[in-house]
This record gives sequence, structure tokens and C-alpha cells, in this order.
Amino acid sequence: MQKSFWYMALFIGILLCGFIYLGSIITKLSGEKGKTTEVATGVTPEGGESIFWGKGQCHTCHSIGSTGSGIRGPNLGDVAARAVSRAEERNAAGASGMTATGYLIESIAQPNNYVVKGFKAEMPYVYKAPIALSADEVKAVIAYLQTQGSEFDIAQIVLPPEIADTGKGGDEGAVAEWKPYVEGDAAVGESLFFDLKGDIACAKCHTVNGVGAKVGPDLSTVAATRSAEYIIESILEPSVVIASGFEPVKVKTKKGKIITGILKEDNDEHVLVMNSAGEVTEIPKGDVKKLKQLKMSVMPPFGNVIKMEDFHNLLAYLLTLK
Ligand code: HEC
Ligand code: HEC
Repeated sequence: MQKSFWYMALFIGILLCGFIYLGSIITKLSGEKGKTTEVATGVTPEGGESIFWGKGQCHTCHSIGSTGSGIRGPNLGDVAARAVSRAEERNAAGASGMTATGYLIESIAQPNNYVVKGFKAEMPYVYKAPIALSADEVKAVIAYLQTQGSEFDIAQIVLPPEIADTGKGGDEGAVAEWKPYVEGDAAVGESLFFDLKGDIACAKCHTVNGVGAKVGPDLSTVAATRSAEYIIESILEPSVVIASGFEPVKVKTKKGKIITGILKEDNDEHVLVMNSAGEVTEIPKGDVKKLKQLKMSVMPPFGNVIKMEDFHNLLAYLLTLK
């Protein structure tokens, strides 16, 4: 009796040690695969929800129903329901056999293949820098979108190679983050940005963390959604992509007056136009003879104004705005 008790205890002891050992191997294994396995547990609508409102930055442009304040992109409440007709449209345009989830995947993989009416091709490649979601994080976000008007179905979420190959770790398939070739000094860049007596003086038009003017977009988190390449282009050639809500226009009134600036409002009552000094002119709708969209941004190109060294300092500063 006593002997068999000790045998039993020994047996349980060995079993326990075995489990602990196995457990430690398993944790090591998944630990070694690194960052991607950590989020693998989050390939659920809940995991996607936290990415949507956090790391994915989706909320800076999109709202979900009445939650959120993003307006640069379409409201994504019910997006899975309307994805059915969007997929039909894409199939009619030559995509073959696209499903509703297929449309959601394409919206993220190749956001410019279909640009929602009333919006611009401003949706970033969220699996590239600076947002740089891993393949599993993209899957989770799509799972979350599926629940907006339809049901979570992981079997439908098959990512195309351009996303599936990201976040594997190492160099293979990973999208490298852009690195400036000259190290700038962000502190010097910050003073150039805010020095209103200098040639650069971006704060004449832009706000960062509550300081500055509001002619152009608030840049407090510009590096969180915009790539370094986009920011560089914005400074050197601002008219290539004009941020939505800041479209330049020329208004001719019936009395022959011409007002140019950013179109702030255009409704049945009036047209509001803001000039580069931030002054707003209100033109009663009845007085408007012609309203024309311009191709040249209100932001001047800085290519000829800014010295190379200043440019790199300024860029270093802008890239800290996350
Ligand atoms: C910088 C702004 C911005 C960010 C950040 C952004 N989007 Fe978008 N998104 C847009 C714009 C603008 C459109 C509409 C133009 C288009 O269809 O490409 C759009 C379109 C979409 C659509 C298609 C909607 C429809 O009605 O067909 C989906 C889905 C979507 N985005 C998901 C996301 C998700 C998920 C994220 C985060 C991982 C995200 N977006 C981040 C701006 C953004
Ligand atoms: C005269 C006003 C004015 C000045 C000065 C100005 N900007 Fe702009 N900026 C704008 C306007 C208006 C837009 C939006 C239209 C567009 O995209 O071109 C804009 C857009 C941008 C964008 C793109 C933001 C986005 O989310 O798409 C960046 C980045 C930017 N400016 C950086 C700068 C920097 C850096 C400086 C200083 C070197 C500067 N701007 C000086 C008016 C100005």
C-alpha cells in the first residue's frame, strides 16, 4: 500500500516535470517565431477592433457608425453589407468571382483599385510603413470589418501574396521602413517649423499639438499615417496629392470679383473660401457665377526655398510626429 503510493507519487512527479518541460519548449518555440505569433492569438474580430482603433490608425480617417470622428474615409459601419454590391461592381469591371470579403481584402491590399465615390485615393497601404501591419494584424482587422454588417468567417480571409509575405521577420518579404540618407536634427527642424520670421515657417499654415495656424491640415500625427516619401513629396511638390478638405478653388462672383483659396463650405446658402493667411470670405450662393477647382495647392512648393540641410532637419522633425 505504502509502496504503491510512492510509485504513484513518483509517476505523477515525472509526468509533471514532463509537462513543465514541454510547456517551456512550446513557449520558446512560439516566442522564437517572434512578433507575428504574438498577434496570432488576436486573429479575431476583437483583436481587429483594437488594431482599428489603435496601431492600424484606421480611426484617424474612418468612423464606425456613430463611433469615432474620422471623416477622411467612408464610414465603415455596415461596410461588410455594402461589400456585397461592391464586389458585384468589381466583378462587372473584370475581377473574377470576387466575394464580399474579397472586396474587403482588396480595399486593404490595393486600395486604389476601387475608389469610393466622393472620396479620393488617399487610403494608405496599411501593411507598409509607417503603419506596417503584419499579415495577422491585417487578417484581424478584416475579421472586425466582417462583423460590420455580416459575420466573422476566418476561412474567407485569404490574403494575397503582397500582404501574406509581410511581417515574416528577417529581410524576406518584410517591407523595409524608409530611412533618410542624411540624419537630420529634429530639434533644429522643430524651430524652423515654428519660426514665423524665417523662410520656412510651416506654422503659418499648420498646427502641431495645438500650436500654429489652421490653413492646412493638422500635422500632429502626420508620420503615423503618411509615409516618409509622401511627406517629402508634400513639401517639394504639394500639388501632386491635395489632402481632402483642402481643395483649392477659384470663385468668380456675378460682380466680377475673383476669390481664390481653399473651399471650406459649399451649400445652398453660401460658399466659404479661406485664403493662405487663414481669412475666410463668405460669398452668398446667389452671388456665385462660377466655382472652379484648381490644380495648384494653396501650399507653395518649398523645393527652391529650403536648403538641403534645413530640409533634412525639418524632415527629421516631421517624422517624429506620431
Ligand atoms: C489616411 C486616411 C486613411 C486611413 C489611415 C485608412 N483609410 Fe481606409 N480609406 C480611406 C479613404 C479616403 C477611402 C476611400 C477611397 C478608396 O476607396 O480608396 C478608404 C476606403 C476604405 C475601405 C473601402 C470602404 C468602402 O466603402 O468600400 C475600407 C474597407 C477601408 N478603407 C478600411 C481601412 C482600414 C481597415 C484601415 C486601417 C487598417 C484604413 N482603412 C485606414 C482613408 C484611410
Ligand atoms: C500657405 C500655407 C502653407 C504653408 C506655408 C505650408 N503648408 Fe503644408 N499644406 C497647406 C495646405 C493648404 C495643405 C493641404 C493641401 C495639399 O495637400 O496640398 C498642406 C499639406 C501639407 C502636407 C500633407 C498633409 C496630409 O495629411 O496630406 C504636409 C506634410 C505639409 N503640408 C507640410 C508642410 C511643411 C513641412 C511646411 C513648411 C515647410 C508647410 N507644409 C508649409 C498649406 C501650407
